[in-house]
Amino acid sequence: MSMSIKFRSGENIPMEMHKVRMVQKVNLLPVDERVKSALEGGCNTFLLKNRDVFLDMLTDSGVNAMSQEQYAAMMNVDDAYAGSETFYRLERVIKDVFGTEYFLPTHQGRACENIICKTFVKPGQTVLMNYHFTTTKAHIEQNCGDVVEIVKREGLEVNSDLPFKGDMDIDLLKKEIAERGADKIAFVRVEAGTNLIGGQPVSVANMRETVKVAKEHGILTVFDASLLSDNLYFIKTREKEFANKSLNEITLELGKLFDITYFSARKLGCARGGGILMNREDLYLAMQALVPLYEGFLTYGGMSVREMEALAVGLREGLDMNVIEQTPIFVKALCDELIKNNVPIVTPSGGLGCHVNAMAFCDHLPLEEYRSGALTAAFYIASGVRGMERGTLSESREADGSERFAEMELMRLAVPKRVFTLSQMKYVADRLTWLYENRHLIGGLRFTFEPKILRFFFGKLEPTSDWPQKLAAKFKADFGDSL
Ligand code: F0G
Repeated sequence: MSMSIKFRSGENIPMEMHKVRMVQKVNLLPVDERVKSALEGGCNTFLLKNRDVFLDMLTDSGVNAMSQEQYAAMMNVDDAYAGSETFYRLERVIKDVFGTEYFLPTHQGRACENIICKTFVKPGQTVLMNYHFTTTKAHIEQNCGDVVEIVKREGLEVNSDLPFKGDMDIDLLKKEIAERGADKIAFVRVEAGTNLIGGQPVSVANMRETVKVAKEHGILTVFDASLLSDNLYFIKTREKEFANKSLNEITLELGKLFDITYFSARKLGCARGGGILMNREDLYLAMQALVPLYEGFLTYGGMSVREMEALAVGLREGLDMNVIEQTPIFVKALCDELIKNNVPIVTPSGGLGCHVNAMAFCDHLPLEEYRSGALTAAFYIASGVRGMERGTLSESREADGSERFAEMELMRLAVPKRVFTLSQMKYVADRLTWLYENRHLIGGLRFTFEPKILRFFFGKLEPTSDWPQKLAAKFKADFGDSL
């Protein structure tokens, strides 16, 4: 493990256990042009053109660096609509990694959610889960079900020292089942590396307990393994029982534990695609017909054979600690720097990225003016860094049209796997600290165009005043000619 490399100073510096052999040029626009791009993009970082972005920290989805072994594998494919060797190779790897018997390929993670929800969510049913992900909840609601979150209380506290903030509250789980009745629960879903509360991990001990309770009541269990790679790192480093277990042994246990496991291969496996895995034939058969309907034939599911080969290699590589620790140790380096500078962030640092607490950062703004949306737009102006709003804008309105205020107002700065350097992380910390010192210049946002479903993707907003220009003026006063 690179964590064991010591520097003379005793400083803990994350070490890259890879070298860069191919690069992509990035641009940093002058601050006035960043204001222009932000406004043109409706103050929504999803609508920015990537050529106007310096460091793209919107997501780690489909933008992780691949290994030379993955690229090499992409050249050696069996391109057939049905029954390609590529499919059987991937199926074999999934069996080796997760130990599961059946595999349905899909084009990405939300496609798995579509198939699972269409099959198992009946109108009026509830899905119990540690915490929702946007696309998951949207699919459950599309099938007239609803979501109840039962993550431990500490999971929703910005700062906590709980090592597994994604853990389910088992008492609450029992209570919800007792109150609703098992037949009203479509399934219990556990999300690894709980995305929206800061990439926070779930312990194996907690997953075992969750599944035990669900099984006692005959309730189906579903595991979203999209963020498993970071979660594995935390299991290995924080959960004593697993300190000496291999990553494959841990993954095999999880593959056995849940009735259904699904994942986005844009995250897990550093490729693009997805898959649903299970051990029970009845579950496999219940979902099978939806793959050709929505995805593609059963032996590619909407993925290109090249991606499938890359995924097969990527899944195996994800069992190497040197590979999976790169994100969490870079996230920690970034978070530690911000903590040192008193910038409010979610702690302990999780996987996936750094999560900035916009609730506190922009506490001078009313919630109706979208604190995390405003912070995300302001940070792009201050740095050219593209983060993602994960707060009220990422929620949908209540049925009566009123705002559903998010429990946490976060700006996520994702750290795609093996993409950025330490100097780039230092830049992010520097500009974010500057913005924090000038946070009173950040103003609010209001919608000019608000879509009904997943409004954060295409929604357009405008500043409530000329605050972006004032922020840019202060930037120029402080940084002079610097970009
Ligand atoms: N589940 C989790 C936990 C996710 O983080 C994602 C995607 C999905 C499911 C859906 O997978 O994108 O392949 O359809 N998360 C991305 C993100 C979009 O930016 O965090 P997908």
